[in-house]
Amino acid sequence: MQQWKVWRRLIRPGGGTNERSQPRKPVSPDEVMQLPLDVLRTLPGTEVDRLLQDVHGAQYARLVLGYPGHARLSSEQLERLEREVLDIQRAEIDLLFPGDAYLTNFVINIWEWAHGREQLESRPWNITIPISDVCNARCTFCTSWIEGRRQLRLDQLELFKEPLKTAVYVGLVGHGEPLSHPQFGKICERLKDYMDPRTRTYTITNGIYLNRWKDVFDELSLGWISVSLNAATPETHSEVMGFEPSEFPRLIATLDDIIQGRFSAEPIPVNITMVVTKQNLHEVPQFIELGNALNAASIHLRSLLAVGHLPLGLNYHLLPPYLHPDFDRLQQAAREAIAQSRVPVFGDPGSWQTPVFPESLAEEIKKNPPPIISRAEAQRTKDFRHAADPFYEPSDRPRVGLRRTDGAFPDSLDDGSNPLGRREPFKCRAVYHGLYVNELFLRMTPCCYMTQTPGHDEVRLDEVAAFENGWNSEAFVDLRRSLRSGPLYGACRRCPERW
Ligand SMILES: C[S@@+](CC[C@H](N)C(=O)[O-])C[C@H]1O[C@@H](n2cnc3c(N)ncnc32)[C@H](O)[C@@H]1O
Ligand code: SF4
Repeated sequence: MQQWKVWRRLIRPGGGTNERSQPRKPVSPDEVMQLPLDVLRTLPGTEVDRLLQDVHGAQYARLVLGYPGHARLSSEQLERLEREVLDIQRAEIDLLFPGDAYLTNFVINIWEWAHGREQLESRPWNITIPISDVCNARCTFCTSWIEGRRQLRLDQLELFKEPLKTAVYVGLVGHGEPLSHPQFGKICERLKDYMDPRTRTYTITNGIYLNRWKDVFDELSLGWISVSLNAATPETHSEVMGFEPSEFPRLIATLDDIIQGRFSAEPIPVNITMVVTKQNLHEVPQFIELGNALNAASIHLRSLLAVGHLPLGLNYHLLPPYLHPDFDRLQQAAREAIAQSRVPVFGDPGSWQTPVFPESLAEEIKKNPPPIISRAEAQRTKDFRHAADPFYEPSDRPRVGLRRTDGAFPDSLDDGSNPLGRREPFKCRAVYHGLYVNELFLRMTPCCYMTQTPGHDEVRLDEVAAFENGWNSEAFVDLRRSLRSGPLYGACRRCPERW
């Protein structure tokens, strides 16, 4: 059918749809490709739901993205798009959303992932920006408050400009506390200039400064906020995070304001998180109750990170939850609370008994228990404060992800084992979707599980002349090649599968 005839069937002279006039024939899958996007968007939701069942390949991509006009898909929609793009020719993608760099980049990216491309034309669409390595808290399990020294400079934000243009999600995160940055408001203004209006941001925060920045929430298009509470009572909050007990009720009231929409045009979903340790294990059921009372969007019970050596300045050896004398009962109580929660709870109580230290270190701790260090002492001790300094130092060799022929940076996680039975092609999404920069020495890490591709130099965002050079550096291209054709690197054989 000629295109104008299709439009005429849908558009009345006044410009609206003809819903109230003659009943019209439902739109067919072929027409999904012909209808202008502004007409497609006026279709009733029920018709689109039905149509989504009948469309395939490029038709699916056009409808699932073109109808809402953005790329914030549900996981089911994304998984289906990943299958449907296999039936699309690369050249067809340019015809789906002409002039719309945001949607076009998204489809090309999924297409390149599905086809296992190594050199990418598309940009990542899930971007993390480190705002601060410094923190106002004193968590028992984190070193940012001891070693953190830097905060993002406004000129460094420029380095993210290119991928920000087509980002779907932007995380304002980092090793420390993002909201402790005194220029957070200015950063938000600048970001707004760089991002597409459809981009949603999120932040991961201890929440203490949320009140201070409530006026920028709308400007930032905050999609959600993850708040690390780590406790359900003022006393435990103080013990774990080092804040005055009076902060906790204030913080909970702020979260209620945000969830009820008192700080923004629309309520902002809040996720609450707890890193489960020996010190807060007993509060897990109460934490879940708190999340339900607040009407949080989700509750996350994170497992304490396993470490190969004791982090300087912390009493990490006292933290594993399985050290609690009443561990079995408390683990069971947590399982029951999770089962009864109305708000979704993410976390695996089974993992709380997984050893946090390798056997040799656990033996050493048993034989020679390390001395207990106070927070004040940790901050005073020069060696602890400067533990991260080498990462910030300049290098004589630009860190642009070149292959090393001198055997530097061997694959330290390759011990010959393959605990998860992984084989190539392994369709990891991380090196396609994400730009992960977590600290202010601006290292582009390929994923959250490895800091660089083995056998290659690191990639530093401020040392590659343009973003493209890092994204398609030898290191990143080689990692995509190994995922497709093998052999898989040690990290890829043992990492959690989904990012
Ligand atoms: C490093 S913090 C930075 C953002 C912010 N300051 C916060 O605490 O939410 C990011 C996340 O890492 C988690 N985290 C820090 N150290 C951890 C550890 N040793 N094990 C597990 N999670 C940890 C925190 O609880 C938080 O959810
Ligand atoms: S609030 Fe976040 S960054 Fe700060 S010490 Fe705790 S975990 Fe680390």
